[in-house]
Amino acid sequence: MNFPKLTPEQAIAGICHGDTISFSGFSPAGAAKAVPLALAARARKEHAWGKSFRVRVLTGASSGQCIDEELALAEAISWRAPYQSGKILRSQINRQEVEYVDQHLSHVPQMVAEGFFGGIRMAVVEATEITSDGRIYLTTSIGASPTYLRYADQVVVEINLSQSQRLREFADIYMMPLPPHRTPIPIYEPLNRIGVPYATVDPRKVIGIVETNEPDSVQDFSGSDKISQNIAKNVVAFLLNEMRAGRIPKSMLPLQAGVGNVANSVMAALGSCPDIPAFYMYSEVCQNAMVDLMIREKILGISATSLTVTGTKLREIVDNMDFFSSRIVLRPQEISNHPGVIRRLGVIAINTALEMDIYGNVNSSHIGGTQIVNGIGGSGEFTRNSYLSIFMSPSVAKGGKISAIVPMCPHIDNNEHSVQVVVTEQGLADLRGLGPMERAKTIIDNCAHPRFRDYLHQYIRKAPVGHIPHDLTLCFEMHRNFLQYGDMLPQG
Ligand code: COA
Repeated sequence: MNFPKLTPEQAIAGICHGDTISFSGFSPAGAAKAVPLALAARARKEHAWGKSFRVRVLTGASSGQCIDEELALAEAISWRAPYQSGKILRSQINRQEVEYVDQHLSHVPQMVAEGFFGGIRMAVVEATEITSDGRIYLTTSIGASPTYLRYADQVVVEINLSQSQRLREFADIYMMPLPPHRTPIPIYEPLNRIGVPYATVDPRKVIGIVETNEPDSVQDFSGSDKISQNIAKNVVAFLLNEMRAGRIPKSMLPLQAGVGNVANSVMAALGSCPDIPAFYMYSEVCQNAMVDLMIREKILGISATSLTVTGTKLREIVDNMDFFSSRIVLRPQEISNHPGVIRRLGVIAINTALEMDIYGNVNSSHIGGTQIVNGIGGSGEFTRNSYLSIFMSPSVAKGGKISAIVPMCPHIDNNEHSVQVVVTEQGLADLRGLGPMERAKTIIDNCAHPRFRDYLHQYIRKAPVGHIPHDLTLCFEMHRNFLQYGDMLPQG
């Protein structure tokens, strides 16, 4: 079957206001590039004619500049799932102009299959090739694309001529049937391959291909600061101690690391510590820092769902494909983030929080409980199911006016039952085996910034007695103070 070549404008000609469109991409990696821009231009035109034109947007996780930022700028999004990290879209969500479903990423394929997001009018997927019988070779991410290809009414394939054909060597696509027909996922080691290197689509649904030549727009994280380095030092010292105590085997366990500067500092610190043995990662995103550690053979291999690396790093990978092809596996997000596999492999999950309360509940997504930053992403599925779950944060934000340790988080993404270790640059609190009062004292003494410690100790001393002491009239006093005075502790 030959697929017609389309311009991006032709590809979206049939899209109507209110349609749901699913794009490939997990972070900017492998994101559709030309069709979303055409959609943004179309929205601007329709709006200029006084017509409503907004679409519902699904991706794997966050997306490239050309999806979230461009569509948000054109006010073309009415509904978004399952994760975002765009500045403009974030403010539209917080103004209630866009409805946002912030959810565990491994749940997306099943939710699509069950129809919770409604029908998908069109899937737009970046690939290096589509064969006449409907095999699609994806590029730098797998994400939820195999599911979108299966369930969308129509499909457009963006053939990205700038991407190497050899990227397919990373792909391992395994689709799970719906319950009750599931069988155990046969991944017993992080790099086990259990699927095929291509996604499939019914060729009759493919309305055409659009050629592009744009690289992924991945920015590297800025260099790590002193605070991130101190957090990283605390994490590494803790892991070494766990190894000495025999709770982590000498061969290490696979790691998962979240995104951002703190996570990158941890990777760098692990890489430069001679007592940490070479290790595997069973994670979500493979980033620059991890590739560097692979070259140094400190990381033996990575399972992820996206290769979110800068252009220069991607070239380095492609030029050395014989080295990397046996060391990187890219899976659908349903598998990279699968609770059963994470639990089986004994993953050590290391994620970042905005704030943590004195009992170990964690808020990673909503400032003041109301303003979304990004979303929960994969942090929930890794934290809940890991062998060891670690949350990190600088102890203060906004020049010391905000404490990251608070009496009660006004929004909770990961709760005290799943969070085992809390770390700031001040120190580390190992919460395993501790009851609420012991947890509170350990977190305040080890992790809170000294400026806020007395307040926090006083809070628990004065709170009415209970299994988990809380004063419901004061538990958000620090947050209220910040809103009113610009400082969580205006008196001190
Ligand atoms: N209260 C209010 N604002 C806070 C705050 C707090 N407790 N803590 C941080 N902030 C502000 C910062 O000042 C910064 O504001 P700015 O953009 O105006 O400078 C902003 O929130 C982001 O903080 P920063 O420290 O730069 O965040 P980061 O880049 O380290 O990311 C998370 C931290 C939590 C937002 C990010 O890790 C995330 O989105 N996590 C959830 C998803 C996830 O874990 N994914 C990986 C799983 S595989």
